[in-house]
Order: sequence, then structure tokens, then C-alpha cells
Amino acid sequence: MGEPALSDFKSETGCLSIIVLGASGDLAKKKTFPALFHLHRQGFIGSHDVHIFGYARSNMTDDDLRERLRGYLTPCKGCEETHEEDVSKFLALIKYISGPYDVDEGFVSLDEEISAYEMSKDDKGTSSRRLFYFALPPSVYPSVCKMIKRFCMSKSESGWTRIVVEKPFGKDLDSSEELSTQIGELFDESQIYRIDHYLGKELVQNLIVFKEDFGTEGRGGYFDEYGHIMFTYDDFVVVTNLLFGLFGRIIRDILQNHLLQVLCLVAMEKPVSLKPEHIRDEKVKVRDLNFFLSVLQSILPIEDDEVVIGQYEGYRDDPTVPNDSNTPTFATMVLRIHNERWEGVPFILKAGKSMKSRKAEIRVQFKDVPGDIFKPKTKQRNEFVIRLQPSEAIYMKLTVKEPGLEMKTAQSELDLSYRQRYQEVVIPEAYERLILDTIHGDQQHFVRRDELKVAWEIFTPLLHKIDKNEVQSVPYKPGSRGPEQADVLAEKVGYVRT
Ligand code: NDP
Ligand code: BG6
Repeated sequence: MGEPALSDFKSETGCLSIIVLGASGDLAKKKTFPALFHLHRQGFIGSHDVHIFGYARSNMTDDDLRERLRGYLTPCKGCEETHEEDVSKFLALIKYISGPYDVDEGFVSLDEEISAYEMSKDDKGTSSRRLFYFALPPSVYPSVCKMIKRFCMSKSESGWTRIVVEKPFGKDLDSSEELSTQIGELFDESQIYRIDHYLGKELVQNLIVFKEDFGTEGRGGYFDEYGHIMFTYDDFVVVTNLLFGLFGRIIRDILQNHLLQVLCLVAMEKPVSLKPEHIRDEKVKVRDLNFFLSVLQSILPIEDDEVVIGQYEGYRDDPTVPNDSNTPTFATMVLRIHNERWEGVPFILKAGKSMKSRKAEIRVQFKDVPGDIFKPKTKQRNEFVIRLQPSEAIYMKLTVKEPGLEMKTAQSELDLSYRQRYQEVVIPEAYERLILDTIHGDQQHFVRRDELKVAWEIFTPLLHKIDKNEVQSVPYKPGSRGPEQADVLAEKVGYVRT
């Protein structure tokens, strides 16, 4: 199975306009514009006639926005010499337009600016491509969608209009469905790119290749030795209620989206090919067809006694946080996939803020060998680890004979650390890959409406219980591993800390 070449995608020419809505905001300056800069510097969007428009309410000139962004456009390894020139070329592409999100005039001006740029090009806008990136709070998505639909769509038959929307896509099943319906009335699913940046991470992308390597032994051969799978997201950043926001509780912020998407990639069957439509179809096929039994639709309701939520001590000291807040900043839970492949394998999801370290990883533990003759002093497990960040690595923890004359066992590692193995390679930021995918019309690493619905169905009952204080957050020390109860739960379902 070969990688799809760029030439597999419809070869497109003409003007490409990238419009960053909410250009004055945090995401835009930290992620969206830097990703566009790196794509431009590497020639991925520089070979097109490209122009970038920033839109927001803030009163700024083009130069104000350019200066605001400059500090976030950092050089990559090996391109320090040309950096200043690269930055200047990129910033020269940016134009800023100020306007509200729900008033016609703003979007009429935006359309005039885009059209003027398109008309200035050789093909006079005959193949205008317009990519709208929503770096905005979701509360304004519906009005912005209406404005784009009314005033800013590509007017050429061979061109397109695509919108990239950021999570949170709602705060529970009902609000998410309402948002989906509002957007869906204006845009076709093929025009909507719901971004979950975890799907753009290098090692998450590697999960598909990993299936290819391990999936050749027929039906029973692959994954059958797996006993437990742990998905971890730990962050040492302390959150304030302001930063965490209304939606920003750890389950909505990390588990319902990032970790669940990664779980889906691990648990789904091997796709037919790497063609985008096959991967997306596979995710849905796994969900929709009884024969394979879908991954997400096969996830059993989360049991109350298989959840631990926590809140770090000091969280309520923030003046914006109510004294009796139950908002979790930590969660561990066990998901069970009720299908032939995964019956009996607990999938443990764990995510927390204000932890002792920052890491995201997948740990696949192999089943114990019956009648183990070596009897190690401490319990050991063979384990396959994919560290998504920091320092991307894939490694296998194995029990081996300790070197020497005695017959003793020890745990050791077969280690593929990307920094050592691929020293010359610059691993792209998730946002770079996903923006490029949008330009290519490749939706495989974006969340589809039906997937989103199932994801909310899984988590909404628990979220409502937490909101009603029916499940209580237990305190944990900042800078720790999280509440002890979480380790007890993982141990109870058979997970061994190696
Ligand atoms: P910001 O709060 O910085 O908002 C972006 C811009 O939107 C602001 O500069 C402001 O521009 C405008 N804005 C803010 N609040 C409102 C409001 N209530 N009504 C109308 N306009 C408003 O958000 P972020 O940039 O942090 O995030 C944007 C989106 O991306 C959100 O959906 C967020 O959840 C998501 N996201 C953000 C991440 C991050 O790292 N920041 C990570 C992952 C997702 P102006 O006033 O000039 O119009
Ligand atoms: C965002 C969450 O989606 O992902 C943040 O809103 C979180 O709370 C971030 O910190 C994690 O992303 P990464 O790529 O830094 O692990």
C-alpha cells in the first residue's frame, strides 16, 4: 500500500484565499498563522497564487497585525539564514479587515477585498478557492456561516469554498446537534472541516501505517495478544477558570475529542487503502456495519464505578471559580468496546492538568503469559508504547535476561526515538498538515458529523452527572500523578504500571 502522492489529489490552479476569522485571537497568532507561515516557507502554498486575509472586530491596520504575528513566526532548524526574508515575504501576503461577525457590511467588505485580489490575477478569479478558518468562539459560528454563505462564497464553478471549524463543537449531545444543524443548513458536509489537531500529529498518523505492519497475519493475528490499552494526556499547565472556560473541563476539552479520536484509530479495522475516502469510510464502516461492529457505537455506557474525576488543590483559589466548583481538571475512565475484536480489553483514558509532567502517549500492554516460569520480583508486562509528545517515540518494553552469568530477568526497551533516528527531519506541526489537507480537499483527518454525534452520545450522560454533582471530583496535589483513586481504578481493571 503506497502513500497517496500529492498528484492523486485533483490538481488545482488559480487563486487561493485563506481567510482567518478571529485573526486578533490567541489561536490565530499561536497556531493558525505560524502554520501558514511554515507551509508558505516550504513552498506548499507558495506555489499557488495565495493571499491571506485576517478578519476580526479589533481595530488594527495590516501592519499592526503583521507586527503582532512576527514574534510567533519562529525559524526552523536549518532555515535560520533565510528566516527574515521568509518572514517578510509571508507577512506581505497578509491583509487585515475589521468588522463584526453578524453585520452585512463587514462581510461585504471582506468579499470585495477577496474579489479584488482574485480579479488582479491572471485568471481573473475564474477558479477562486476560498478557505475560511474559524479561529473564533463557537458562539459566533452560526452568524459567521450565514454571512459567508450570503456574501463571501467563491463565485467560480471550478473553485470552492471550505470552512475549517475549531472545537468545542457543542458542550453536550443536544448543543452539538443544534450547532451541526445550523451549520449543515448552510454548508454541505464536504465543505466542513472540523479540526481535531490530534489527528494531525505525526505519531497519530503513524497508527495507520502501524496497522499495515501488524495486520498481515489474518483475522486472529493482530491485537489479540493485547490485554490493556492506556491513553494518557498529562499537562503540567495550571488552568484558571477563565482559561478553561465554560466548555473547558477536561472531559470535554481532551477526552471526548482528542483521546477518543486516537482510540478510534487504534481500535478500527485496517482501511482498504490510504485514499482519504476509504479511511473516513472505514471509521464509519466500523461504526455502522454489524459485521465489523463499529468501534464507537460498540462502546458500552461508561460505568460510574469506572470513572475517577479530580480537581487539583488550589483550583478554587481563582477568584472566578465558585467555592464549591465540581469542575474536573483530571479524569480517568475505562471504556469497553463490545465487539469480537476488543471484548475484555479495557481502554483506559486518562487526562489531567497541573500534573507532574507534560506528555501524551498510548500504552498497549500485552497479556500475561500463562505459567510464567521466571517469576520476576516485581510484576512486569511487555508493553508497546507510542509517545505522541514530547519527543516522539515508539518503543517496546520487554522482559529480557539481565546480561551476566546469572539467569535473572529485567525490563528493557527496543527504542525508536524520532529525534535520534530522524535527526534531519523536521516533524510538522499538526496544524500545518491539516490546513494543507483542507486545501487538498482531503477530509480523512477531520471529524465528520455522524462521528461527532456518537462521541457526544458516549460522554453526555457522564457530563450531565458531573454538572449535577452526582459524580464528585476528588482533590489531588498539583504536580502529582493525579488522585490515587485513579491508579487504584487502573489496577483494578488489570493494568500494571511498568
Ligand atoms: P479567543 O478568545 O482569542 O478569540 C478569538 C477572537 O474572537 C478574539 O480575538 C476576538 O476577536 C473574537 N472574540 C472573542 N470572544 C468573542 C465573543 N464573545 N464574541 C465575538 N467574538 C469574540 O479564542 P482562541 O483564539 O483562543 O480560540 C479560537 C477557537 O479555537 C475557539 O473555538 C477555541 O475553543 C479553539 N481552540 C483554541 C486553542 C488555543 O490554543 N487557543 C486550542 C484549540 C482550540 P475580536 O474581538 O477582534 O473580534
Ligand atoms: C486543546 C485544548 O484542544 O488541546 C487545550 O483545548 C490543550 O486545553 C491542547 O492544552 C493540547 O494540545 P497539545 O497539542 O498541546 O497536546
